Amino acid sequence: MKGIILSGGKGTRLYPITKVFSKQLHIIYDKPMIYYPLSTLMLMGIKEICLISTPGDLPFFEKLLGDGSQWGLRIVYREQAEPKGIAEALIISEEWLAGSPAALILGDNFFFGPRSEFVIVNDTLSGALIYGYYVNNPGQYGVLEFDGTGNVLSIEEKPEIPKSNYVVPGLYVYDNRASGYARQLQPSSRGELEITDLNRRYLEEGTLKVKILGRGVAWLDTGHPSLLQEASQFVSVIENRQGLKISCPEEIAYRMEFISEKQFKELITCLPECEYRSYLESVVQRVTFT
Ligand code: TTP
Repeated sequence: MKGIILSGGKGTRLYPITKVFSKQLHIIYDKPMIYYPLSTLMLMGIKEICLISTPGDLPFFEKLLGDGSQWGLRIVYREQAEPKGIAEALIISEEWLAGSPAALILGDNFFFGPRSEFVIVNDTLSGALIYGYYVNNPGQYGVLEFDGTGNVLSIEEKPEIPKSNYVVPGLYVYDNRASGYARQLQPSSRGELEITDLNRRYLEEGTLKVKILGRGVAWLDTGHPSLLQEASQFVSVIENRQGLKISCPEEIAYRMEFISEKQFKELITCLPECEYRSYLESVVQRVTFT
């Protein structure tokens, strides 16, 4: 399984924060936003990642993440010249995917919760897997409609009258047909290749699986200043309570055994003296079971 992070967009709702560089480079409490979706992919066991962003922002992401080898990853970068829709990510990355299934995550999506909720180890996945998450404002998202036994009947993008409170977060897993299907999509009235249309294609052919994320999972939106602030508060509350960091790629790389203890310790020596470094220095001694 390969991973794609779509990290471009206009960031209109965060203007002027996004005037100079993209929102995914801004801070959520103590680290850049992009660390959170990157960590989600890493915790899913994914090491090969394609990061897609705007031509102007890509150099910043490259400076921040490099080729990923420091964390046992292989990160490549691709441009999305204009924000022409989330489904376009599968077209842009098609050659790089080279027939591999892919997990696509949006660069501004924050997930926190038991790892078992997200684990997919099946490279032979056939069809698509999306998630359902209960929110109190479903009309702003892709909304799921279910029959009485929990089967999905429809997905509607930003409906005026939502048919349920379950919406589709920005994490999707596709088999190797997704790029081809994305190519066949027509732009919507807002001029975008809609991910909901791609998911509908799988729904119509009967190969869309929907996993409902439990109430113990946090999925936060970070697209608006107050939501960004809430996400920072969330991370700060949990980190300060536990003394454990959320979405720290160095720690995840070590705990997932993407890098050895020796590599992890070497990595720390390159960091400036700061709280982040002190935390990493303490990681090897900490006994945690999850
Ligand atoms: P949105 O929140 O839909 O858009 P945005 O980030 O540009 O913000 P705003 O609505 O305030 O203008 O995008 C969700 C995520 O997907 C975000 O990380 C940006 C990314 N995205 C792209 O990279 N390219 C695209 O073509 C689209 C539609 C989104």
